[in-house]
Amino acid sequence: MSSTVLVVDFGAQYAQLIARRVREAHVFSEIVPASISAEEVRRRAPGAIILSGGPKSVYETPAPSLDPGIYELGIPILGICYGAQLMAQQLGGVVTSTGGGEYGRTTLTRTGTSDLLAEVPEASDSWMSHGDAITQVPEGFVATASTPLAPIAAMEDNTRRFYAVQYHPEVAHCDFGQDIIENFLHHLAALPASWTNTNIIDDQVAIIREKVGSERVLCALSGGVDSAVAAAMVTRAIGKQLTCVFVDTGLMRANEGEQIEQTFVKQFGVELIHVKAQDRFFDALAGVTDPERKRKIIGELFIREFEAVARELGAGGEGPRFLVQGTLYPDVIESGSGHAANIKSHHNVGGLPEDLSFDLIEPLRTLFKDEVRKVGEELGLPSEIVWRQPFPGPGLGVRIIGEVTRERAEILRAADYVVVDEIRKAGLYRELWQSFAVLPAVRTVGVMGDGRTYAYPIIIRAVTSDDAMTADWARLPYDVIESISNRLIREVPGVNRVALDVTSKPPGTIEWE
Ligand code: XMP
Repeated sequence: MSSTVLVVDFGAQYAQLIARRVREAHVFSEIVPASISAEEVRRRAPGAIILSGGPKSVYETPAPSLDPGIYELGIPILGICYGAQLMAQQLGGVVTSTGGGEYGRTTLTRTGTSDLLAEVPEASDSWMSHGDAITQVPEGFVATASTPLAPIAAMEDNTRRFYAVQYHPEVAHCDFGQDIIENFLHHLAALPASWTNTNIIDDQVAIIREKVGSERVLCALSGGVDSAVAAAMVTRAIGKQLTCVFVDTGLMRANEGEQIEQTFVKQFGVELIHVKAQDRFFDALAGVTDPERKRKIIGELFIREFEAVARELGAGGEGPRFLVQGTLYPDVIESGSGHAANIKSHHNVGGLPEDLSFDLIEPLRTLFKDEVRKVGEELGLPSEIVWRQPFPGPGLGVRIIGEVTRERAEILRAADYVVVDEIRKAGLYRELWQSFAVLPAVRTVGVMGDGRTYAYPIIIRAVTSDDAMTADWARLPYDVIESISNRLIREVPGVNRVALDVTSKPPGTIEWE
């Protein structure tokens, strides 16, 4: 038996959250589709299984089900919401449509002694989202809690170690939610709290060393968090066998190149090839205003620059065989709800083509973004890199609306620095998903001192979001907006006006192009 927990995804947005809560309890978790067979589960031999919630009713056809053989494997199971109802129905209990549902904060009352709810008081706040309810427990189970519209809001069979809760212990508003999950994992399923950042690093270092041997490895650094952490991990494993490539497109954020040099060359002693390709990018972008054309040009040129370096390194036949990629877990989840399919194709801009003849090393493949950041800190990366907000592959190129020129890129880089600097000073940087400047290539009239000006406006774009699929415009305090505006006009030549973008996504996108 392994100490991994399998989270079976019944199509709710909660499966990822459950997987993360399990990891917060220092137990490794993986999300698997509802179609997983008992045979596959037996092969993987997880230490426990959690059945997630889902948007369907068990009575709908087709409603996702679970291979009943899984209940025969002797593995402890916790069913949550839809997962609880499915467990009740498949094991012989009754699920009824009660006519009214419960949504949001709901008082939970304990109705009997319970191993699962051992730490939960008589009455507590739970978080509900259900239409149907379990009205009769399967044989071997006892009901342990209720809410006004869910007569059986929790049930358990201690002999088989099956537990079920109608509510959502994984959400932050649920009292004792994490306690219930930890109790299930550590006490009822007897799984040790042994999955930590240190052993993620140790495991990956061992895997990378084993895979790479004495071969050379190549990594494209973009300035972003993922590639930096992946490179730092590989450095920890094989040190000087790694060569990093940083292609400066002229469209990077302020100090990005310097920061990478400082960290990877001075601190880690890695060989870094800094390709100063600014001129070639600006030449290729001259006269181009169409957003898609711009993206394509930047993406293709990036690949060409990278390939040129790879060819050069391979000239003596001793070239790198492996390539590091900062792929994260949300990109690889093979899940019932098809999250993986949601990744927009344009997000590959700034990435590398699949037909490069390298073997891939993906040391972050099992990690969520917040875990990547923690691992990065543990590996000694500076917090400016580890906590950097996301930045699109085509960089400032899609934040200059209209033709990209060297002059506009300089203005925008300086403006972006001011926006971010003020946001940081206000203590808002980590709270915001992204905060940056946009430069539309139009000029407007202003007056400064005694003179008329005719210069560019800067638009402040700041959003909150969990995953970039949807976003809300950030309600920045007026005094922060004021200091950004004052500094932009004072410190950035070529700017004479400041506006604020108050569009959510949808209908807008986060980037302007
Ligand atoms: P939109 O503008 O579509 O962006 O709301 C959603 C998120 O994706 C980022 N983004 C990109 N990331 N390559 C990337 O790696 C790209 O080409 C790209 N375009 C947009 C954007 O910054 C936001 O976080």
